[in-house]
Amino acid sequence: MNKREEIPFERKVLNVLNGQSYDRPPIWMMRQAGRYLPEYLKIRKQAGGFLNLCYTPDLAVEVTLQPIRRFKFDAAILFSDILVVPDAMGRNVRFVEGEGPRLDPITPDEINNLKNIDAIEHLNPVFETIEILREELPKEVTLLGFCGAPWTVATYMIAGKGTPDQAPARLFSYENETAFEKLLDKIAVFSASYLILQLQAGADAIQIFDSWAGVLSEKDFTKWCIKPVNKIVKLVRDVIPDARIIGFPKSAGLNYQSYRELTQVDCLGLDWSVPMSFARELQKSGAVQGNLDPMRLLAGGSALNEGVDDIIENLGNGPLIFNLGHGITPQTPIENVEQMIKRVRG
Ligand code: CP3
Repeated sequence: MNKREEIPFERKVLNVLNGQSYDRPPIWMMRQAGRYLPEYLKIRKQAGGFLNLCYTPDLAVEVTLQPIRRFKFDAAILFSDILVVPDAMGRNVRFVEGEGPRLDPITPDEINNLKNIDAIEHLNPVFETIEILREELPKEVTLLGFCGAPWTVATYMIAGKGTPDQAPARLFSYENETAFEKLLDKIAVFSASYLILQLQAGADAIQIFDSWAGVLSEKDFTKWCIKPVNKIVKLVRDVIPDARIIGFPKSAGLNYQSYRELTQVDCLGLDWSVPMSFARELQKSGAVQGNLDPMRLLAGGSALNEGVDDIIENLGNGPLIFNLGHGITPQTPIENVEQMIKRVRG
């Protein structure tokens, strides 16, 4: 059960999603649990495979809590991966050390064989992880669940890996449009159920990661990003009307505007290439999250301070969740993360 209304303490990230502004914005970091933390690397070694880490609640809870203990972020993000959805739908997903995810590229015919939501119990360890997390997290920390957007998940299912501009998925969408539409629809329906169960297990809000939104033309962006994400939003709100949702269509450029209007997400995740004047426009119609270049965080020093100040100056007067414009990279020094948090909190 989601007992959001009865909460007597401040969950600032959740409050921003409800439209509130703060003098100093709340902060969390995409990929905040991960390889830049020595304590993560230790657990990662113990767990064996990466998916094993995702599917072992005690370990997934531990690595989710690590960055909260160390940095006191305002939000915790469930430790998992966007590719657990194709894994649950019956595709073979592996994570190869030093290379990233690998899947068997799906063919148009195989789309019919994908498992439907009856297979959601494969993800029960994720729901168990969320239940334990909500018990163990400090009450004021917002707990975020997540999934990948159908377009981004499909790009990995089709290419079998990340490619520089996801050309295989774009080609597939032109050569097999009907099958492609069916694939995205199946992922959307599955993901909506997955998110509903995350919220019911205790997540306060959810983020939909569309990491490859930036490689699509305007028309294709409407068809393959906006439409399936809006379907997820509607299906989730049919069951949980006040579900709070962050959409992150990375590198969407001017398409951020139509994404804001048509998907109905509560908050836009911005990458660092979004001009500040445009970001301020977008913020007039709701909360934004972002958008520090992770390379400024890696560089540290004045490059980091200038980046932080620019975001606070431009977006600090409206509803803002401070974050990076994409995930933190493994080489980032921990002192730089501390410097960023200190600067944001003033
Ligand atoms: O943010 C968090 O701390 C929560 C956990 C999380 C992970 N992946 C853990 C992870 C989240 C939210 C994700 C999302 C994810 N996964 C995305 C969308 C966001 C983005 O970064 O664009 C994508 C595209 C994936 C798919 C994926 N998983 C890739 C491409 C890779 C390899 C590249 C890389 O960064 O290693 C992964 C592996 C992965 N997912 C790791 C972690 C901590 C590293 C695996 C390891 O420890 O060996």
